[in-house]
Amino acid sequence: MNAVISIERLTKSFGDVRALDGLSLEIPQGGVYGILGPNGAGKSTLFRILLGLIQPTSGHAQVMGYPLAHTETLRRIGSMIETPRYPAYLTARDSLQWLAAAHGQATQIDVDHWLERVGLKDAADRKVRGFSVGMMQRLGLAASLMTRPDLVILDEPTSGMDPPGIHEMRSLIRDLAENDGVTVILASHQLLEVQRICDRVAILNRGRLAAEGKVSDLTEATEYLHLEATPLAKVKEIIGDAAEIVGDAILVNIRREDTAGLIRHLVQQDVDVMEARWVGGDLEAVFMSETLGVPEAEVSAHVD
Ligand SMILES: Nc1ncnc2c1ncn2[C@@H]1O[C@H](COP(=O)(O)OP(=O)(O)O)[C@@H](O)[C@H]1O
Ligand SMILES: [Mg+2]
Repeated sequence: MNAVISIERLTKSFGDVRALDGLSLEIPQGGVYGILGPNGAGKSTLFRILLGLIQPTSGHAQVMGYPLAHTETLRRIGSMIETPRYPAYLTARDSLQWLAAAHGQATQIDVDHWLERVGLKDAADRKVRGFSVGMMQRLGLAASLMTRPDLVILDEPTSGMDPPGIHEMRSLIRDLAENDGVTVILASHQLLEVQRICDRVAILNRGRLAAEGKVSDLTEATEYLHLEATPLAKVKEIIGDAAEIVGDAILVNIRREDTAGLIRHLVQQDVDVMEARWVGGDLEAVFMSETLGVPEAEVSAHVD
């Protein structure tokens, strides 16, 4: 694997709090990679370390083949950490022009192109003072992209956005990865968004890696057949360990291709089957089981 980031036993302590606790992780080059985790899991701390804003307590990391805080490498990264702030009296266009000048690229950067790409064309000449959180996020995104970085690190990029805004951001981020060849790493706790947008994810919990992999592989492992049938005890007896009674139903851990055979068998054994459907199969089930220690079967029962 061609890793854009490789992290080895990274630890960061703030007093008694271990924000990162021996985290090891490889993030491949290309595509969209999601860092998931509940509040306080260490997502922002990880990003701050990768961006050279704070130093790890111990451990190592390489970004694009270079050690942390390597100035030339940092120039090739665009980032947005939490909601960005700009001087309130500047317009959106002036903010970006001001930043472009700060990068020494006042003439090279096409500010209007980036305002349009993040959906701020109509607000280009409005003062930032009146911007909503979602508009500030868009502006921050434009600022992180306009220097044409190879790697973009986005911390909760859709927080504060309404559903149409989130949809636009999703298209923009996919477009960056697919057409501009940019590697995007984003942190989020919005699981459905991550499931739709990311190729791979890492789930962090209390500074440690709880799960990692392709989104499709992770979600497949959490699908269960949800059966409403009577008598339940008999169903459990027939299926055995692969079945678990949850409330009035039973969750069965089988392959999809075995479904018809199972139901036929149950009916032959005088079981009345009222309903059979698939539940789970999403990141929420993986996330809950990995971060809260809830068994996957129980989680799946509550997902739908
Ligand atoms: N500068 C800091 N000083 C003290 N504690 C911090 C600091 N930054 C983060 N933490 C703590 O580290 C843990 C991880 O925080 P953070 O990386 O912000 O998590 P996340 O972004 O996943 O919500 C939390 O317990 C947080 O309170
Ligand atoms: Mg955070």
